[in-house]
Amino acid sequence: MTTNIHTEFHRFLQREDKERLLGQRGIVIWLCGLSGSGKSTIANAAERVLHQQGRATVILDGDNMRAGLNANLGFSDDDRLENIRRIAEVAKLFAAQGIITLVSAITPRGELRDVARGILGDDFFEVYVRASYEACAARDVKGLYAKAAKGEIEHFTGKDSSFEEPMQADLILDSEELDLEECVDALLQATARRRSH
Ligand code: ADX
Repeated sequence: MTTNIHTEFHRFLQREDKERLLGQRGIVIWLCGLSGSGKSTIANAAERVLHQQGRATVILDGDNMRAGLNANLGFSDDDRLENIRRIAEVAKLFAAQGIITLVSAITPRGELRDVARGILGDDFFEVYVRASYEACAARDVKGLYAKAAKGEIEHFTGKDSSFEEPMQADLILDSEELDLEECVDALLQATARRRSH
């Protein structure tokens, strides 16, 4: 598919130049977990702390991406794969600019996380935001669990579409045990060395 494509990466300013300018290193902090587990809330709070510290950041949120770049994708296995592939490719572009990139996407299966890891290599820092289906259903911030219970959502993650717990996460944040501030502290501490120039 890449026949007659001649990439120009080598001619452009390099990642090190961008990172030196920003005084930080690019990384992709990939938060996976059930809908309602707290991924976006943690990403949002962590980004605000980093921003206060003068860091350049971006959040790639599954719902937001699905409202734009990924608007043509649904929740079948194939569409989730393409959703994750596109998010990972966009994250790769940001990380290459030295940006601290927070991804918040369910990423429900090991195969999907392997795709993201394959695209991002050493930049991939996997965080499992752990909360049980029952806990997420009790929170039900978006009302989706109630809808799923009534059979109104196809392929709902954890119900009729599988969620495989990550086996090789770099960090696990148990949002049933830890409060938001504790999750953010743990996230920032665990990534500090990887982000610093
Ligand atoms: S992923 O599985 O492909 O990684 P992603 O994080 O992009 O999912 O999107 C999940 C979001 O889509 C959820 O937070 C929820 O708001 C919404 N959503 C709509 N339908 C579903 C569904 N069937 N399963 C899970 N989430 C859904």
